[in-house]
Amino acid sequence: TILILDFGSQYTHLITRRLRELNVYSEMLPCTTKISDLTWKPKGIILSGGPASVYDADAPHADEKVFELGVPILGICYGLQEIAWRSCKENVVAGDAREYGYADVAALRVGGPADRLFEGMEDASQVWMSHHDKLSKLPDGFATIATTPNSQFAGIAHMEKQLFGIQFHPEVTHTIRGKKLLENFAVTICGAKQNWTMSNFVDQEISRIRKLVGEKGQVIGAVSGGVDSTVAAKLMKEAIGDRFHAVLVDNGVMRLNECQQVQQMLQEHLNINLTIVDGSKRFLDGLKGITEPEKKRKFIGNLFIDLFEEEAIRIEKAAENTPNAGKVEFFLQGTLYPDVIESISFKGPSATIKTHHNVGGLPARMMNGQGLKLIEPLRELFKDEVRELGRQLGIPEDLVMRHPFPGPGIAIRIIGEVTPERVEIARKADHIFISMIKEAGIYNEMSQAYAGVDTNKAVGVMGDNRVYGYIIILRAVTTTDFMTAEAYEFDFALLRKIATRIVNEVDGVSRVTYDITSKPPGTIELE
Ligand code: XMP
Repeated sequence: TILILDFGSQYTHLITRRLRELNVYSEMLPCTTKISDLTWKPKGIILSGGPASVYDADAPHADEKVFELGVPILGICYGLQEIAWRSCKENVVAGDAREYGYADVAALRVGGPADRLFEGMEDASQVWMSHHDKLSKLPDGFATIATTPNSQFAGIAHMEKQLFGIQFHPEVTHTIRGKKLLENFAVTICGAKQNWTMSNFVDQEISRIRKLVGEKGQVIGAVSGGVDSTVAAKLMKEAIGDRFHAVLVDNGVMRLNECQQVQQMLQEHLNINLTIVDGSKRFLDGLKGITEPEKKRKFIGNLFIDLFEEEAIRIEKAAENTPNAGKVEFFLQGTLYPDVIESISFKGPSATIKTHHNVGGLPARMMNGQGLKLIEPLRELFKDEVRELGRQLGIPEDLVMRHPFPGPGIAIRIIGEVTPERVEIARKADHIFISMIKEAGIYNEMSQAYAGVDTNKAVGVMGDNRVYGYIIILRAVTTTDFMTAEAYEFDFALLRKIATRIVNEVDGVSRVTYDITSKPPGTIELE
C-alpha cells in the first residue's frame, strides 16, 4: 500500500486514480495523520500538493515520523516544498510570479538512485505546473533531477535516501509522462504490488460498510434508475442485505415505462429492498403554470425531498417496531468524485455537493432534520470506474452504460409549462429516438441524448389536412466532463428516419428539429 498524505490540493484524488490505473492500492489520509495511528506500514509515501505556503505559521506539516520510517517518499508541489522546508526553513520562498500551465521539463541524469524517478523516460517532456512558492536552494544531500525554464528545481532527489520532490503535477493528464513517473515511484522504487483490481474494491468497500453500519444498523437511500444510484444500492445490498432500503420517488417526469423498469431491475434482478412512492399526480399538479426553469427545479427538488422524507420516517418507524432491528442511522448517497467540489482538506472533511446534483438538498435535510449520517461508497471514484464497479457487481451492460438523466427529468426538456400532454409527447418521442440510436449501435458514441418539446406549435400538413402541432427538439452530445459539449455528428439519413417515425407515431407532433448548438453557448438540457 502506498500512503498518500493529502495537503488539500484539488488534484490529490487524481493521484489515487492514477495508482488504481496502475493496479496499485493506495490509501489517502489527511496530511496531519500520525504514523503511530496506522495499523499497517506503507511501502512508500506521497505528499500531495496543497493551497498553503509551508513557511506560514498555520501551514500544515506532516508528522516527523513520516521521515523516520525509512520508506521512499515523493513530494509533489507543496510536498516538495515540505521536504525542502524541513531540511532548512529558508529553502522555500514566494515566487515572483505564479506559474500555472504547461512547462517543458528537462530531466537531468545525476547517477545513482536519484535517477530512478525518471528512469525509462525521455529527457524532454511536457508537464503541468500550478504553484506560487518555489525552492530558493537545494536542500543538503539533494541533487537537481529536473528543471524547466521557470523552475530551477522542478525535480530534486536525495543522493542516497529514497527521497524525491517534484514541482509539477504528475497526476494530471497534461503531464504527458506523469503516469510513468508515478509507476517508477510506486512500483520500481517502492516495490508496490500491481495486484489491485475493482473486485478488491468491492471486498474492501463491503467490509468498510459493514464495520461502519454495525451488526444491526439500517440505511436508506434514493434510487433513480441511473448508474450511480444503482451501483451504490447494489453495493449496499451486498454489504447489509435487506437492512438497506431503496426508495424510488416517481416524480411524474421520468422516461417512458421507467418506473416499471427500475422496479424490475432493482427488485427482481438485483434483489434490492425497494419502495416506490408514486408522487406523479402531486408533481404534475404542482407544475401547472410554472414556466420558469429554476422554479421548476426548485419545486421538483422540494417536493421530492418531502416525499422521500415521509417515506424515510415510515421506514424508520417500521424498523423501530420490528424486534431486533437496529435504527436507521445512515443515508446513502451515490456521490462520485467529480461531484465533490472540494476534496477532503487538511482541516477535515468539507465536501460540497453541486447544486445540480440529482437529489440536491436531500443530504442536508436528512442529516440535520433526522440526524442521519451520510454514507458515500463511490466518493473516490470517477464515472468510468463506477461503470466498471457496476459490471463487477453483475449489473447489466445497458444499465452500466446508461446516459445520465437529470433529477428534474423531462421537466427541463420541455420548454415552458409542463403539462401531462407534453410529458407524454416528450416520452414517446424520446423512446423512439433512443431506441433507434441503440439499434444503430451508436448509443455509446454519445454522452447524452434525448428528445424534448417546445411549447410553441408549428404548422404542418398531414394527409390533406393542415395541422398545428408540437415541435420536437432532438439533442445528442459528446463530452468528457459535461462542462463543454459538442453536438453529435449524426448520419443524416438516420436522422431523417428518426424524424419520420416520430411525426408518424407520436400524435400531436408536426415537426422534428435537431439541435446542433455546442455548449457553450448552449447547455445540454433545454432549460
Ligand atoms: P447543462 O444543461 O447544464 O447540463 O449543460 C449538464 C449536465 O447536468 C445535468 N443537469 C442536471 N442534473 N439536476 C440534475 O440532477 C439538474 O437540475 C440538472 N440540470 C442539468 C444534465 O443532464 C447534464 O448531464
